[in-house]
Amino acid sequence: MSMREVQDEILRLKKEKDICILAHSYQAHEIVEVADFTGDSYALSKLAATVPQKTVLMCGVRFMAETVKMLSPDKKVILSCPQAGCPMAEQMDKELIEGIKPQFEGYTVVAYINTTAELKTVCDVCVTSSSAVKIVRALENNNILFIPDCNLGAYVAKQVPEKNIRFLQGGCPIHASVTKAQAEKAKALHPDAELLVHPECIPAVAALADYVGSTSGIMEYAKQSSGREFIIGTENSIAEHLQYECPDKKFYPMAKGMICENMKSTTLMDVLGCVKGECGEEIVMSDELIQSARRCIDKMIELGG
Ligand code: 13P
Ligand code: SF4
Repeated sequence: MSMREVQDEILRLKKEKDICILAHSYQAHEIVEVADFTGDSYALSKLAATVPQKTVLMCGVRFMAETVKMLSPDKKVILSCPQAGCPMAEQMDKELIEGIKPQFEGYTVVAYINTTAELKTVCDVCVTSSSAVKIVRALENNNILFIPDCNLGAYVAKQVPEKNIRFLQGGCPIHASVTKAQAEKAKALHPDAELLVHPECIPAVAALADYVGSTSGIMEYAKQSSGREFIIGTENSIAEHLQYECPDKKFYPMAKGMICENMKSTTLMDVLGCVKGECGEEIVMSDELIQSARRCIDKMIELGG
């Protein structure tokens, strides 16, 4: 079977079985092509709640499928690849945060959406990379414990200097692996290009950037900019998708190693298997867990996230 035939079969089956396919923008291009919607994790979860289909296939990682389930508890939510977790989301667990809370009495615990549903049950509010600054600024409390990404936390602290923001050592192994020297090398190789960086990168890399923002922020910036060349400081698929969408511009990955293996563990054949009902994992969460973990997400929505 050719790739086109596999894609056609997926399109036929998803229609026949009334399945909505969501693809995070870190997914491979051939998966994005068969998806109903592509976007960042939060936009996709909000969108999932509005689609008519009763079954949603989330091509991404586990915390994203959990977020979809929490916002659409009556839908059947399938994670495309059961092994696809986000290493950052698994760095901290509920027990760790419960254990350190006495040292942070009176602090509001702000959790990046890249956390497990279990962990969200002991946090106060969620943020995404696009809403973190706005939400932290809107909180009444000046004392904030920001978990798990200390790089995103440092970025927020820089934008909201009036708050006392504390962190724990956590972060994305892919974004945080890029050194200042690598970013400088990319800039030297492409002196006319603007550098667009995700705030999960280390502060020394973010400091070199012309723009710092979420995956969708970076895509929007590049599409609307009158610039012609861009170095993309996030997972390499974003540079690839942008190159397809804007053939007249040039996109270079900041570092060739910015590949999230978990995101890439879903293949087009997996998607075919999922729509056939032969693979993937249905996300099952108790009502109690959904209610308890959702508080954080509802608070984020209330504060305009
Ligand atoms: P978004 O929330 O922008 O989709 O990003 C998720 C992620 O995993 C970033 O590394
Ligand atoms: Fe998690 Fe990093 Fe992969 Fe995003 S890129 S899913 S934060 S490991």
